[in-house]
Amino acid sequence: MDNRLLTPESLKEDSFDNTIRPQTLQEYIGQSENKENLSIFIKAAKMRGEPLDHVLLYGPPGLGKTTLAGIIANELGVNLKTTSGPAIEKSGDLAAVLSSLEEGDVLFIDEIHRIPRFIEEILYSAMEDYTLDIIVGADSSSRSIKIDLPPFTLVGATTRAGDLTSPLRDRFGITCKLNYYNQEELKNIALRTSKVLDCNIDLDAAEELAMRSRGTPRICNRLFRRVRDYALVMGDGKIDLSIARIALDKLRVDRLGLDDTDYHLLKSIIDKFNGGPVGIEAIASSIGEEQSTIEDVYEPYLLQIGLIKRTSRGRVVTEKAYEHLGLPIKNS
Ligand code: ADE
Repeated sequence: MDNRLLTPESLKEDSFDNTIRPQTLQEYIGQSENKENLSIFIKAAKMRGEPLDHVLLYGPPGLGKTTLAGIIANELGVNLKTTSGPAIEKSGDLAAVLSSLEEGDVLFIDEIHRIPRFIEEILYSAMEDYTLDIIVGADSSSRSIKIDLPPFTLVGATTRAGDLTSPLRDRFGITCKLNYYNQEELKNIALRTSKVLDCNIDLDAAEELAMRSRGTPRICNRLFRRVRDYALVMGDGKIDLSIARIALDKLRVDRLGLDDTDYHLLKSIIDKFNGGPVGIEAIASSIGEEQSTIEDVYEPYLLQIGLIKRTSRGRVVTEKAYEHLGLPIKNS
């Protein structure tokens, strides 16, 4: 992806996120329904003295799945161990993390849909009966051994709940779908970040930032840091509306939070496919992006703000998109 500023996927420079991540549900802004539910389930688990049921968090990248996993562990007062689907290549990798768990711990597996299928089965018995079934030895001398694990909570995160096998999905007692944040929530996140980073921002500038953050806190915080740079170099360090607008325009983020790739995608559906319907493979090859990136990152937001629609015959650009691009409507 060429415009890295707007990718909701985690980048190295976002490690600063760790310093501003909320630590408690109380501090966490947005996702109110999920927050209320989780708060009850966590309290109940603590009252019973049992581990929390396994939790599946799903939704587009950048909406706070990792943050929530940390908060769950923190609210339960237990350790958080973190790994990810792509990091688990051999059954031994998963066995090693599982056997390192202590009673009540939260194991967070990011991108859980990317665990290879043959390894996924190890999770079934670990989740269901807290046992680790592994096969040791090769060929004729191989045998299966069972190791007891302490009770623990698995928190799995995925951008694609549909890519999980049903046996895995069925083993999560709690499922939370994360949604894009509204303007008010993003404004409050920008105001919170302003306090944490000790950098003043005017209310209208925070609103401008919220408007251009594509519903995504990670993007809001990344834009905040860049706008802060402009404010420091071009002004007195305080972020006002005019600095915010100048910076965001320079960063090529438009009023709806669209970047060059979004434009390229919409224009290509309009110019090359007459506004659609067109299949995702054709869109991907016409703009030179991975199909999965379009499906996980670009499309969900464009669908959410109503610039494209999904039909049984493929994706269609809406009237709102033509208007936003300032183009005459070709195909309704
Ligand atoms: N920073 C990033 N995401 C946040 C959230 N949902 N609430 C508070 N601060 C955040």
